[in-house]
Amino acid sequence: MSEATFRQPAVSDGQTLWQMATDSQVLDVNTSYAYLLWCRDFAKTSLIAEIDGTPAGFVTGYLRPDEPEILMVWQVAVGAGFQQRGLAATMLDELAARCCVQGVETTVTEDNAPSNRLFTRFAERHGAELTRTALFTPELYPDGHDTEYLYRIGPLGPGAAARVPELAAAGIR
Ligand SMILES: CC(C)(COP(=O)(O)OP(=O)(O)OC[C@H]1O[C@@H](n2cnc3c(N)ncnc32)[C@H](O)[C@@H]1OP(=O)(O)O)[C@@H](O)C(=O)NCCC(=O)NCCS
Repeated sequence: MSEATFRQPAVSDGQTLWQMATDSQVLDVNTSYAYLLWCRDFAKTSLIAEIDGTPAGFVTGYLRPDEPEILMVWQVAVGAGFQQRGLAATMLDELAARCCVQGVETTVTEDNAPSNRLFTRFAERHGAELTRTALFTPELYPDGHDTEYLYRIGPLGPGAAARVPELAAAGIR
């Protein structure tokens, strides 16, 4: 596989993110408007990966308003033809480094083994503790959604930021 390149998404990428989320057949697909808004307002804490000029994956995230040193990863998707080659892992490392955060959060449902593995391995790579607690249980939803377990990973070792020193020095907030 050719080398992946990473950049912040632009508003014009919103429809691509929506399409990748739809194609994943796993993610809760939000409105196309939500992805446009995300690309406008949370681009600095999100990432799109391209391989040979083709969108191959994305991560959307935000810095928690009450805990701005924590990156909340909202959605991760990798296109079917690019999976299980380390792209999602590399995107997470890259985004954590760009954001210079001390920790990462996400939520995972019990049945999502790839996602569980992705974040467990992320914690291992960064020498960080991973805690798992039920965050949103079915009775909170109007539609019988499965429990979303909160994964809190941190503190992150210096490895991620050290990989992109100029970004680590500058920060992106
Ligand atoms: C989850 C997802 C983003 C992983 O992308 P990816 O690029 O294939 O992941 P990576 O190649 O970086 O693999 C990361 C780890 O997960 C493991 N993994 C990836 N796909 C897996 C699968 N289908 N089953 C089990 N483990 C899997 C990898 O083996 C790797 O672990 P390792 O380092 O121990 O080998 C991708 O499967 C996807 O887009 N799924 C649909 C959307 C989704 O569920 N997103 C996550 C919730 S937000």
